[in-house]
Amino acid sequence: MNPRHPASTALPNGPSPLGGRRSILAELRAHSKSYTQKEFLSDLVGSSTRLVVEISTDNRERVVDVDTEYLSKLRDALRYGHHEAIVITVDEAEKPHAAAMGVRLLNEGLAIFPYIDSRTYRNIKAGSPVSLLFTHNALIFCDVVLRPFKLRYVSGRNSGFYVLDADVDMHVEAVPKLIVEEGQRASVILSVLGVYEGRGRYFSYSRANSMLIEALVYLTKIRYFISSGYREIPELSRWIEMLSYSISLVRRLGSSDLVECAETVCKDLKDLGVGSVC
Ligand SMILES: Cc1cc2nc3c(=O)[nH]c(=O)nc-3n(C[C@H](O)[C@H](O)[C@H](O)COP(=O)(O)O)c2cc1C
Repeated sequence: MNPRHPASTALPNGPSPLGGRRSILAELRAHSKSYTQKEFLSDLVGSSTRLVVEISTDNRERVVDVDTEYLSKLRDALRYGHHEAIVITVDEAEKPHAAAMGVRLLNEGLAIFPYIDSRTYRNIKAGSPVSLLFTHNALIFCDVVLRPFKLRYVSGRNSGFYVLDADVDMHVEAVPKLIVEEGQRASVILSVLGVYEGRGRYFSYSRANSMLIEALVYLTKIRYFISSGYREIPELSRWIEMLSYSISLVRRLGSSDLVECAETVCKDLKDLGVGSVC
């Protein structure tokens, strides 16, 4: 049993091509059931579904599903449908990686939707545990997206998990139990090991704060498509428009640290060759 990668502990032992670390997909392909319960994720699974892996949770004693003791905490925190979070995974050298991602609480568990060519998804496929950090603080998202050199990782509560040394409100430690690939994205359904209070501070609603997170969403979309060679996609001009509005609002209403991040967004866009936004 590999305590760092609880999701892989349900797998039979044997030589691993990853030098002691198992690839969830490589090994679970052999053990997964074919997908017969379309209704299980009917809103996620469409006709173009390429791959579905159901991860056996023989290690049930370690896995606490969200319909037990943590449900009310999570329901309370994730009450508005889709929420933004910081997702932390580890790579094969056990190096932690943080990325901003959307999270949903479904009946079946927590779900995240990484692009299939993201580092986060690569780590998950290779057996990484998953920490989800919840905060409304745009500056933490800013560090993750634009200033990763500032991030300080510390150990989570369970072995092999990492979190950020940051004022988040709550964090969840989880392992994947179902992976569905569809189009450019995967849906990863997670089993929750624990939900932990953070040291978040009181936070009044600020439009500038929310708009900065919005700007970061569009920046990462533009980054992704431009770096993949899709400079001409029709959505680009709409995203640039949204970004431009978000930045103008941060500049008008935001504190100096929010504005500083907005200027870094502008610089990043200029470096991408999208200079006319700010
Ligand atoms: C608030 C926010 C939410 C995001 N949500 C997602 C998401 O749900 N899925 C995704 O793949 N990328 C999402 N992104 C973009 C990723 O953070 C970005 O592409 C990142 O580089 C992930 O890829 P990586 O794992 O390779 O670092 C989001 C970005 C922001 C700022």
